[in-house]
Amino acid sequence: MNPCQHPTTPWLTPPPAGLPVAGEIHVWRAGLDWAPDALAAAAASLSPDERERVARLRLPAHRDAFVAARIFLRRVLARCLDADAAALRFGTTAHGKPYLVELSAPLHFNLAHSGSVALLAVAVDATVGVDVERVRINLDLDGIARRFFRSEESAALDALPAAQRTEAFFAVWTRKEALLKALGKGIAGGVDRYGVTVDPGSPARVLAAAGGPGEAARWWVADLAAGPGYRAAVAAPATPGRVLTWAWPGPMDSSSSRAPEEIP
Ligand SMILES: CC(C)(COP(=O)(O)OP(=O)(O)OC[C@H]1O[C@@H](n2cnc3c(N)ncnc32)[C@H](O)[C@@H]1OP(=O)(O)O)[C@@H](O)C(=O)NCCC(=O)NCCS
Repeated sequence: MNPCQHPTTPWLTPPPAGLPVAGEIHVWRAGLDWAPDALAAAAASLSPDERERVARLRLPAHRDAFVAARIFLRRVLARCLDADAAALRFGTTAHGKPYLVELSAPLHFNLAHSGSVALLAVAVDATVGVDVERVRINLDLDGIARRFFRSEESAALDALPAAQRTEAFFAVWTRKEALLKALGKGIAGGVDRYGVTVDPGSPARVLAAAGGPGEAARWWVADLAAGPGYRAAVAAPATPGRVLTWAWPGPMDSSSSRAPEEIP
């Protein structure tokens, strides 16, 4: 079975050094709850433009999450590339998707964070998208679904027992957003142009995609079990040969059995 299908995801450790091989997607998971002094020390290794972004964030919780997620991103990519995390230089596409500059071969990656969880998907031969959302009940789910979901998705949500609706809403959201992030357009890609399965307990699938039925059959999406109270999904333009999921050991994962120093 694909290791990423709902409901379980084995977050393996120790994580590998080096790049995924062609056909593989690696997804890394980290907790974002850093001790304040460790976070402040790590923040010093961010680039000037990353520090500018931190300064523009109004809420301290958003600043801390951004810094921890960026450090996680830098450290995982540095481990993949056997490079210095602080020396990695990022560019961003017109739609805001970060990429690494000065690489001799392409490396595709996508970061997502919500609450205290960050996920990073990495592949060498295909674009990837990942999304994680903390399941919140204080949202206008019906209003958001009407605005962003396809009519058949909203209808399927309405048909579910009330107790399942919140979970289903976040399943649709994360499946859809992972697809849009793989496309690289984010929300500008048109959230209603991609249709996904709604049942949160059944495997994620793409049911509709811009470009017609052939496109929908080509795209791939799978759920990830990011932790209690979270929904997550990973997507790519075609079914990967293998998906491996890794727990990032370090100061942001206090449940790790490995000491932070073991990972550069
Ligand atoms: C950036 C976006 C892709 C996702 O934002 P988000 O859900 O707030 O945040 P996530 O944690 O999932 O992803 C953020 C990361 O995605 C990456 N990203 C930014 N733009 C991206 C793009 N166009 N495509 C793919 N990835 C992108 C960045 O690494 C970013 O991290 P950073 O903020 O630390 O630089 C954006 O399109 C957006 O605002 N989406 C809104 C979500 C929404 O309303 N969905 C409705 C239901 S489907």
